[in-house]
Amino acid sequence: MSIPTRRLLGRAALSATAAARTGGRPGAATAAAAGTADGCEDPAEDTDAETTAAPAGGLRFPLGFGWGAATSAYQIEGAAKEDGRGESVWDTFSRTPGRTRNGDTGDVAADHYHRYAEDLDLMRDLGLRSYRFSISWPRILPDGAGAPNQRGLDFYRRLVDGLHERGIAPMATLFHWDLPQALQDAGGWESRDVAHRFADYAEIVFRALGDRVPTWLTINEPKTVVQNGYLWGHHAPGRQDPAAAYLVAHHLQLAHGLAVGALRATGAGRIGPALNLHPCYPADDSAEAARAARLYDGYENRLYLDSVLKGSYPQDVLADLGADSRMVRGIRDGDLATISAPVDLLAVQYYTPIYVTADGGTTRRWPTSEADWQQIYPDGMYDILTRVTRDYGPIPLTVTENGLPTPDTLAADGTVDDTGRISFLRDHLAAAHRAVTAGVPLESFHVWSLLDNFEWAEGYDQRWGLVYVDYPTQRRVLKRSAHWYRTVIADNGL
Ligand code: FCB
Repeated sequence: MSIPTRRLLGRAALSATAAARTGGRPGAATAAAAGTADGCEDPAEDTDAETTAAPAGGLRFPLGFGWGAATSAYQIEGAAKEDGRGESVWDTFSRTPGRTRNGDTGDVAADHYHRYAEDLDLMRDLGLRSYRFSISWPRILPDGAGAPNQRGLDFYRRLVDGLHERGIAPMATLFHWDLPQALQDAGGWESRDVAHRFADYAEIVFRALGDRVPTWLTINEPKTVVQNGYLWGHHAPGRQDPAAAYLVAHHLQLAHGLAVGALRATGAGRIGPALNLHPCYPADDSAEAARAARLYDGYENRLYLDSVLKGSYPQDVLADLGADSRMVRGIRDGDLATISAPVDLLAVQYYTPIYVTADGGTTRRWPTSEADWQQIYPDGMYDILTRVTRDYGPIPLTVTENGLPTPDTLAADGTVDDTGRISFLRDHLAAAHRAVTAGVPLESFHVWSLLDNFEWAEGYDQRWGLVYVDYPTQRRVLKRSAHWYRTVIADNGL
């Protein structure tokens, strides 16, 4: 079985050779590399260095475009022990010595649970039209099942009402990785039953909030749970078990499908999956690299896209896993029909491309951000959006995450100068705009993240927010990028 190695690469792997191969000319190597693999990217569309340059202006987005920002419950809420919240796998993981940088936990985070009203005002001041947040399963079902915790539901009701009062559309993710620890103790996502528990939880949430939330996302980045949680072990639950990992993938997909069914039966609104997609390019023009990139693409993208949008798992991935794998043995009759229940939209999260070498490994071509797994390559945004529309048809798309961490500091004059974030977002928005111009039905874009927050195993060292959080005081300060984004929203473009 080939195992994706993306986040295993050390900083050293961003070698001078990668830069040397490009001759320092942005786009050159990529143009050569892109598109030779079937199912990867199309070379005809991006052959020019200029495509990564900042636009000269005049890029208007469609009328009513949903300018937004995103967060997730465990990363911002804090209040880990309040109002009846139960424990999640991330409480357990982050409190285990050595698991997170500096031993950081989400116990307090950005204290959003207490400061949500102030945060809502910030969103209004930015002019946000859409806010993507997640609901904490252990706040609603502290033990993973049974009677819901009304105080947990009330918090989200207040949040959603506050959004409406400020003219901001709520977009709620049902699961952003904080599985109730009680369900982990019962087998976690390796247990098929947990997929059914997820549908029960979803139904409770739909009944409580369905009248006020127009757009639902089921599971945030199932691939990250599979890879970070079960292949490499640097996310909760911290396992390194490839066989379990892909059974988990199937159960996450099943959980998605069951939740879609629950919404159709009990609620209203639109629903879809939230997938982090990575354009996979062959690292050179050999047939071996093309073949390896194609399989890599299967593990990174098609496993999740095909099952939801085509009703089948990619044959090359299944063959690579093997008929005896726990995943293949775990697929039951009717599962794919459940997983492929029609969805209303697809949420795409784009951070980085992947360059696949002939031996199935990876290499880097572009500078990374402070997150060493993230190569900065705006054209990847165009490639992945156009590819999804080309391969899966005109399903409405939303970008639910895009951003980078920058080394932000609060200056003595009270400002935070994150110009790196402005250029990153400008280039990625320009790429998204090109995709719209090419016919991609993109309806909204959410910056990751509204606020600096708990970046999982990286703790609080990485700052991904438009808004700076001074953790000792919990003071919020709009970064320069937040002021810039407010203008983009007001102008409906850049
Ligand atoms: C995504 C996660 C999000 C955040 C960003 C940086 O993979 O969905 O919670 O960690 O990466």
